[in-house]
Amino acid sequence: VPIDFQAPRNARTYSDRDADDTWSSVVEPLVRAEGSSVVDIGCGGGTYTRAWHDLGAATVTGVDSSASILGAARESHGQHPGVSFRQGDATNTGLPAACADIVWERALVHHVPNLAAVAAEAWRLLRPGGTYLIQDRTADDVLVPGSEEHPRGWFFEAFPRLLTTETGRRPGSAELMSVLAGQGFTGLHTLQFWETRRIHRDREDYLAEIRNRTGRSILHELSDSEIKELVEYLAERLPTGPVKERDRWTLWRAIHG
Ligand SMILES: C[S@@+](CC[C@H](N)C(=O)[O-])C[C@H]1O[C@@H](n2cnc3c(N)ncnc32)[C@H](O)[C@@H]1O
Repeated sequence: VPIDFQAPRNARTYSDRDADDTWSSVVEPLVRAEGSSVVDIGCGGGTYTRAWHDLGAATVTGVDSSASILGAARESHGQHPGVSFRQGDATNTGLPAACADIVWERALVHHVPNLAAVAAEAWRLLRPGGTYLIQDRTADDVLVPGSEEHPRGWFFEAFPRLLTTETGRRPGSAELMSVLAGQGFTGLHTLQFWETRRIHRDREDYLAEIRNRTGRSILHELSDSEIKELVEYLAERLPTGPVKERDRWTLWRAIHG
């Protein structure tokens, strides 16, 4: 079954993680964060809401459709000046038109059925000349084979049926580009990069996240006994020491106007 974002048991699934320098070093050359107004849609636990604040944004508004996830985001990051959170849908945030210099959506678009409506809302929120940034994994990114630094790739070796779920929900790069162009965005630019997700102190620390399905919605497609099998599969392949977990992502940049 797909993850239930509203369920209180999943409130902290996207919390307790900081954005890594491998993320900021890719984003910083693309857009000027200093003094800007950022809207972070599908903000989850607020990891990147906070990261934009740390990059110097004047205001960052995290929007998410889940009240319980937003509660956790507020608890972790709501105390920073200029940072706020509000409940809303990616297609209808309730924020005023032309309020943003940057609209940011990370790991959101594979969860929404209507990309055109999401792009239309980003268009409405952005000021002319503003920047729309989308970070997600394409089917191509998902297919990168497993390794000690990319254990996620092993999920699909262990349970090939998960690939059907992934390829079904992941947007193609060309598809997303054509939605953005259709909305009127210009300056379309796309790149692939590796982001360090987390450096786990040892294998057990990493496997605890897998056992709890933390921050990985795809693991909600596995039963409890399949999760146990996956943990064993990964334990056989990973060294016992630290796990530096990296994932391959695609980033799309588009300009309003
Ligand atoms: C995979 S998490 C990503 C969280 C965060 N952006 C990150 O990268 O750590 C996806 C988030 O999108 C939210 N979400 C899903 N569908 C949404 C929608 N239609 N409108 C707003 N938020 C949505 C979920 O509640 C969840 O918190």
